[in-house]
Amino acid sequence: MARPPETESHTTAPSPAAAHQMWGGRFTLGPSQALDALNRSLPVDHRLWPQDVAASKAWVHALGRVGVLTPAEETQLLDGLDHVAERLADGAAVGAADEDVHTLVERLLYEEVGAVAGKLHTGRSRNDQVATDLRLWTLDAIDQIDRELALLGRSLTARAAEGIDLLLPGYTHGQRAQPVRWGYVLLAHAWPLVRDRQRFADARRRVAELPLGSGALAGSGFAVDRVLLKEALGFRSVSANALDATGDRDFVAEVAFALALVGTHLSRLAAELVLYSSAEFGFVRLGDEFSTGSSLLPQKRNPDVFELARAKSGRLLGDLVALLTTLKGLPAGYSKDLQEDKALLFDAFDTLGLVLPATTGAIETLSVDADRMRAALDASLRATDLADLLVESGVPFRESHRLVGRLVREAEHAGVPLDRVPGPVAAAIHPGLGAALAQLGTWEDSVESRATPGGASRASVLSQLESLRAAFAATGGS
Ligand code: ARG
Repeated sequence: MARPPETESHTTAPSPAAAHQMWGGRFTLGPSQALDALNRSLPVDHRLWPQDVAASKAWVHALGRVGVLTPAEETQLLDGLDHVAERLADGAAVGAADEDVHTLVERLLYEEVGAVAGKLHTGRSRNDQVATDLRLWTLDAIDQIDRELALLGRSLTARAAEGIDLLLPGYTHGQRAQPVRWGYVLLAHAWPLVRDRQRFADARRRVAELPLGSGALAGSGFAVDRVLLKEALGFRSVSANALDATGDRDFVAEVAFALALVGTHLSRLAAELVLYSSAEFGFVRLGDEFSTGSSLLPQKRNPDVFELARAKSGRLLGDLVALLTTLKGLPAGYSKDLQEDKALLFDAFDTLGLVLPATTGAIETLSVDADRMRAALDASLRATDLADLLVESGVPFRESHRLVGRLVREAEHAGVPLDRVPGPVAAAIHPGLGAALAQLGTWEDSVESRATPGGASRASVLSQLESLRAAFAATGGS
């Protein structure tokens, strides 16, 4: 590990970062370089500058209304903050040495308006400030992820509609079980995304609680109107307890969980498609634009996109676990531990921000091999149909299950498909089996026989498609 340069490691020489600091009056020495390096959060939290500026402008209004600022000072600070925002949009945060985004915004404000900038932080603490900024940022980030989820949901739904009449084995325990529709399989991966969007919509309500006006822990010393602040910043409600509000990161944990669960859903979709794109299955083939090659094996068409989608779920889970572990021992109120929340939350959003569009693109460009799917349907998948037919002729299911089991054994023994067991052999097991074999019908008949709502029948898939089109048409948000 690189050591900090000897000469400077414990000096008090003012670095550019120390030139503007929000604290320090009570110390003789400035922070050591080692502490500064550990403590600085600007490399992570610089992303909050638009929220920091917006919340600061709302705070300026609130201070103006209680007479802490004259109307002239209020205008000066608001204009100054607009200039600060322009400079930050032009990259003023890049390479800045400030401790955090709040310090950076305040330093730039001093540069714009001079000493009156020192009035901005009246009655406010970075504790309520950072909680406010992060909540504002999270609201936007949720809306972005929600849009991406809707796009993926729409792609899955569209591909499912195309694939409604393609039949393939449905699997449980990794074993061929019963015939299903390809569209039905895709929809089994679309429904979890509906729940994900509901989870975000629900979490969003709790994210939209305003902490500003909580001060450091006990409320603000100035009678600012928190309801007006809430309206100005687009929050739903005002936090009820300042000590709770400044230390509460439930909203981060909740959103990190929702993100990790999206990751888990995408991982399951991806795992299934990695399997289906193998030469052994050959059910699907990735489009060229979503395939990767091998440096050694010229023939390879690798599903990196789905392998990475699968892997990134581990990272998302890591973000959640790290966050909960950070929170679990903390007393009420703000502790600096909470500074770690942002790196984890940003990482989770960034990770899904990469995975979601790539997954959507890969789904859109996937081609399907209907013949390979159909070829994988072997007669043993009719075993349940046969048992059901015996039930219709009055045999109790437990008995018909046993009888068809014997038929399966005979077929295996004779090395013939289940529906080719010689009539006399079947009749010797049970007189009804011959008739049942004759009644089996087509693969389509088999799928259609499972017509309960939510089943794999055509009507069920059509009605699911309709519900999902509606669910993914709306984009959530405020
Ligand atoms: N950078 C800090 C964080 O992200 C801001 C809040 C600091 N508060 C404090 N009292 N030092 O949590």
